[in-house]
Amino acid sequence: MRVVVLISGRGSNLRALLQADLPVTFAAVISNRADAGGLAIAAAHGVPTQVLAHQAYADRAAYDGALAQAIDAHAPDLVVLAGFMRVLTADFVRRYHGRMINIHPALLPAFPGLNTHARALAAGVRVHGCTVHFVTAEVDAGPIIAQAAVPVRAGDDAEALAARVLRQEHRLFPTVLRWFAQERVSLRDDGRVAVRLDEDIDEDAALVAPLG
Ligand code: GRF
Repeated sequence: MRVVVLISGRGSNLRALLQADLPVTFAAVISNRADAGGLAIAAAHGVPTQVLAHQAYADRAAYDGALAQAIDAHAPDLVVLAGFMRVLTADFVRRYHGRMINIHPALLPAFPGLNTHARALAAGVRVHGCTVHFVTAEVDAGPIIAQAAVPVRAGDDAEALAARVLRQEHRLFPTVLRWFAQERVSLRDDGRVAVRLDEDIDEDAALVAPLG
């Protein structure tokens, strides 16, 4: 399975994917920012990198057209958004229907968009987490593939909560990518996600927070 990863920043999720020893080929890492820390991480793992600066394009459609060309040059089976901080055009999203995924630092559909951890604290939720989902035209609203939940602790600030969630992102994202490599995940025609796992569900499993 050939994978192209899109990034904009520090690349800690990219690192988790590259270090997970997955049965996939990372064909390229593409960033819209030249200063993205993830570029050095990709290079250190021998993965070809490319910077496609959005400032050089007249509008979103022009940028997304160029981005699609750059991606398609690597003929990926899956496009992975790992902290790619751009809103995508409907055309672009349609082109990769069922083969583009994103990781979001909240339990969607709660807290789409930015500043999720501060907003979770302000809302007073006791459980927070992260979501891997297929990308659709509406931001952070695509069909959910998998989620990991963490407790919100008394005394948490946004930074502490972000760090707790990020540790789970680094576990969840490689896990989901492995499922793709094993052909366990598909987006059905009705828009729902099928994940084929040989799992024994523990009917009493629960994350309770706070746990007295
Ligand atoms: C992560 O929190 C991810 O969920 C969000 O952007 C952040 C990227 O962090 N989409 P990194 O670049 O992977 O360290």
